[in-house]
Amino acid sequence: MGYDVHAVRARFPALAAGTAHFDGPGGSQVPDSVAAAVADTLTSPLANRGSVTAAERAADAIVLAARAAMGDLLGADPRGVVFGRSMTALTFDLARTLAATWRPGDEVIVTRLDHDANIRPWLYAAQGVGATVRWAEFDPRTAELTVADVARELSSRTRVVAVTGASNLLGTRPPVPLIAAAAHERGALVFVDGVHLTAHAPVDVAALGADIYACSPYKFLGPHCGVLAAAPDLLESLTPEKLAPSPDSVPERFELGTLPYELLAGTTAAVDFLAGLDPTVSDSTGTGSRRERLTASLATVERHEEGLRHRIEDGLADLNKSAMNGKGRPAVTVHSRAGSRTPTLLLSFPGRDPQDAYRFLAERGVNAPAGTFYALEASRRLGFGDRGALRVGLAPYTDDGDVDRLLTGLGEFLAS
Ligand SMILES: Cc1ncc(COP(=O)(O)O)c(C=O)c1O
Repeated sequence: MGYDVHAVRARFPALAAGTAHFDGPGGSQVPDSVAAAVADTLTSPLANRGSVTAAERAADAIVLAARAAMGDLLGADPRGVVFGRSMTALTFDLARTLAATWRPGDEVIVTRLDHDANIRPWLYAAQGVGATVRWAEFDPRTAELTVADVARELSSRTRVVAVTGASNLLGTRPPVPLIAAAAHERGALVFVDGVHLTAHAPVDVAALGADIYACSPYKFLGPHCGVLAAAPDLLESLTPEKLAPSPDSVPERFELGTLPYELLAGTTAAVDFLAGLDPTVSDSTGTGSRRERLTASLATVERHEEGLRHRIEDGLADLNKSAMNGKGRPAVTVHSRAGSRTPTLLLSFPGRDPQDAYRFLAERGVNAPAGTFYALEASRRLGFGDRGALRVGLAPYTDDGDVDRLLTGLGEFLAS
């Protein structure tokens, strides 16, 4: 049996509202089991982590389970999984912690392709200690960021290379393993923003060469929090600012304040839901380890989303053909062109404001927002300034009916 998108959709209460959601890269819809895990946690006896009362033990078990789940999802050591408010907050904190080990003249590489959450924290951190920021540029015509683009900025003074696993604006998946190998040769750490990638592909942090990997469960069917994964040894070598009475152990010393236990329980439920998406490896007896089921399920979802992406690309090409027959110029430009990419398409409409397309579609129950999506540098580099373009993102619950509605809506917009 293949991927049953109808069965998957039935698990998402929000889809009953009838909206076609192409806004997943901003935040996905949530399955019933994730919402139930959050609610169950909040309606069961719960205290701060500890071992004396049942309520304390419940909180402790939730934290350990969520670390194990994220370890399985990312192929990471659960002892190096840190939870936080958001990827942005975790990255600011970690950048500040790392910068305390830098000296004036040290260098940090950021890329023009990245979300601002993997740029600005490094800029502030560098500024604070007199380190130099070097920019790796992507090619706006091809949407590619190559290993050479990053390697030419490397030097013996490079301390960190901050690079995205996949662009949330264009979908581009840079060759992170090659970039990481080049960075490691120079003794630099590699920080990978996996927020967009984790929602769309099986991830193995070791294979990526990521020393530190950050992601956000609310992009992969989970609740609103952030996760950072690193080797426990690396975390042991760092001294974050923290409250005096809070634990000094790893990863606890990176987790500021009380953890959102209910969101951690929801994160575990999201990982379990993802692991069950390929029915051939996830019958009720649960064949294979969760890591194996995740790898198989995410590969299945990747194929499903890729099939839909091709349908959209073909549909857009048809819209252009009819526009060129009528007026003589293409009506839609697709900027997502990288050889390796997620099913996320950035579109502009020559002579038309993408914000108008966004509103036009929204009135027809199709959510495909326009903006920079905080990939501000990339948007400017593409010539879209601070207004951005229209983004169409696919998710495990997207189906052919959604795609039909998107293409019809875009056709009507272009004819309007
Ligand atoms: C690629 C990418 N990185 C980072 C972020 C920021 O994540 P968070 O909202 O968890 O701070 C986002 C959010 O859109 C993103 O898409």
